[in-house]
Amino acid sequence: MAAALALRVVAGLAAAALVAVLLEHYGLAGPASPRPQPRRPWSPHPAPGPRDNNIFWGLQISDIHLSRFHDRGRAVDLEKFCSETIDIIQPALVLATGDLTDAKTKDKLGSRQHEVEWQTYQGILKKTRVMEKTKWLDIKGNHDAFNIPGLESVENYYRKYSAVRKDGSFHYVHSTPFGNYSFICVDATLSPGPKRPYNFFGILNEKQMEELLSLAKESSWSNHTIWFGHFTTSTILSSSPGIRSIMSSATAYLCGHLHTLGGLMPVLHTRHFQGTLELEVGDWKDNRRYRIFAFDHDLFSFADLTFGKWPVVLITNPKSLLYSYAKHEPLERLLHSTHIRFAELYKSKSPHSGGNQKHVNGDAYKLRSVIVLPIISFPVKIDGVHLGEAVHLSGPIFILKWNPRNYSNGTHNIEVIVQDSAGRRKTVHHVFSVEEDLHLTFDPLASFILLTDHYIMARVLFVLIVLIQLTILIIFRYRGHPKLKGPPGFVNLTSFSLHVLSKINIFYYSVLLLTLYTVLAGVF
Ligand SMILES: *[C@@H]1O[C@H](CO)[C@@H](O)[C@H](O)[C@H]1NC(C)=O
Ligand SMILES: *[C@@H]1O[C@H](CO)[C@@H](O)[C@H](O)[C@H]1NC(C)=O
Ligand SMILES: *[C@@H]1O[C@H](CO)[C@@H](O)[C@H](O)[C@H]1NC(C)=O
Ligand SMILES: *[C@@H]1O[C@H](CO)[C@@H](O)[C@H](O)[C@H]1NC(C)=O
Ligand SMILES: [Zn+2]
Repeated sequence: MAAALALRVVAGLAAAALVAVLLEHYGLAGPASPRPQPRRPWSPHPAPGPRDNNIFWGLQISDIHLSRFHDRGRAVDLEKFCSETIDIIQPALVLATGDLTDAKTKDKLGSRQHEVEWQTYQGILKKTRVMEKTKWLDIKGNHDAFNIPGLESVENYYRKYSAVRKDGSFHYVHSTPFGNYSFICVDATLSPGPKRPYNFFGILNEKQMEELLSLAKESSWSNHTIWFGHFTTSTILSSSPGIRSIMSSATAYLCGHLHTLGGLMPVLHTRHFQGTLELEVGDWKDNRRYRIFAFDHDLFSFADLTFGKWPVVLITNPKSLLYSYAKHEPLERLLHSTHIRFAELYKSKSPHSGGNQKHVNGDAYKLRSVIVLPIISFPVKIDGVHLGEAVHLSGPIFILKWNPRNYSNGTHNIEVIVQDSAGRRKTVHHVFSVEEDLHLTFDPLASFILLTDHYIMARVLFVLIVLIQLTILIIFRYRGHPKLKGPPGFVNLTSFSLHVLSKINIFYYSVLLLTLYTVLAGVF
């Protein structure tokens, strides 16, 4: 009788707790905040064609983890990245999304800031003069905030040795003759910065969220907005209405932090319910990953790459259907485009400085004056049918005339093959569609990892464990005394001790109080 009552009370409590958590999850609790307005309607022009305007590209690199104890190669390769890779790709900007330094103790278990790691980082930026060649936007990750008592502390080496040197979120506008492109940094690192492993999650309080909201509003005049940060949105605790709805006008959120989950998830890409792409990039630390992204006639495309692997090929038109979203991009431009376009970047075996020229398809050209392309053919296929050879336009851009109306139905597969004079080939391909209302779905596991608010999962688990504890305690208090039959096995003994625990008032009330105290202390 009493046990049944207790069970009902506990079940009721559990239901209430779950509802509260779910309400919070879906942002229904609390006052509704104004959200950034959707962009003005897109126009079908300018559409990708035979001219080399309306395009720029950038790079992202994340989780570099420069360490004074482990793998000198991270620094050696970063220096090569800042000189050779940047010289070949010539990005308009580079986003270095956190964990610039490792900040661990020698045994890898503890954490502390090492000034020498930061000096190595700054040394590479200075020696390669990368900040003169491109816009280098570096931000803090959780490792860069380990053990820092406050932002004013001398141990906050980010202030002294990074390129940006300013704590907190910011808005950078890349201005071009054909449009403005906003890049908004989300700084969710903790201050004061706890030790390992207590800062796996980032936090955005109300004030920081308001700041971000005003940055989002500022950016609403830009052609596109990209948000970037260290943490995935699933590892940020943010106040209402939540980080994902604040960035809902963004085309994509570029982040790092999860590396490749130890090789288990080399690709962590998904789309928020609000339409923003969330693209985690693999780490530099162990996998030497980086990413190239481009806006070609306001169509967003990107490719995840491995350092030192050439050539790099990025098809910008027609773009991949998986990463297309009509609310954020003028997708009808695909149908109005006259040319297939892609960027092809190659490291020459013997780069000469000066006016080296090479003949491709009868046209003499120079790529960035130092890089000579030994690639001799660029066949393009759609659905396995050879369409022709792409021709060089300018810089790394290649084009091939096409008629998108031939592909107005369903999905198609585009394939670009690059072949060098030694006969080596590299193929890139993706599925595209010129229909606007077609969608592909992301890997469900990647979506689960990136879209679940893991701190909420942790809280639900906590509440459930407490409730189970209480239930057991209460049930045993009101159950009849046990009759010991048979040998006192594990089950019998456990049951017997639970009876003793719940029936002796001093034990019962102290455990009850302790449990309730844990819960209430956690809530308030
Ligand atoms: C960028 O936006 C402006 C203003 O809306 C527009 O005129 C321009 O065509 C856009 N740029 C591109 C490349 O579409
Ligand atoms: C970019 O922003 C500047 C300053 O706000 C503005 O003057 C310019 O017209 C914008 N360019 C485009 C193409 O919208
Ligand atoms: C595409 O359409 C044009 C005419 O619009 C036609 O000449 C051409 O053969 C078509 N190509 C393919 C691959 O169907
Ligand atoms: C589109 O698909 C339908 C059937 O799926 C087919 O009958 C039609 O010819 C296709 N149109 C084009 C332009 O390919
Ligand atoms: Zn990291």
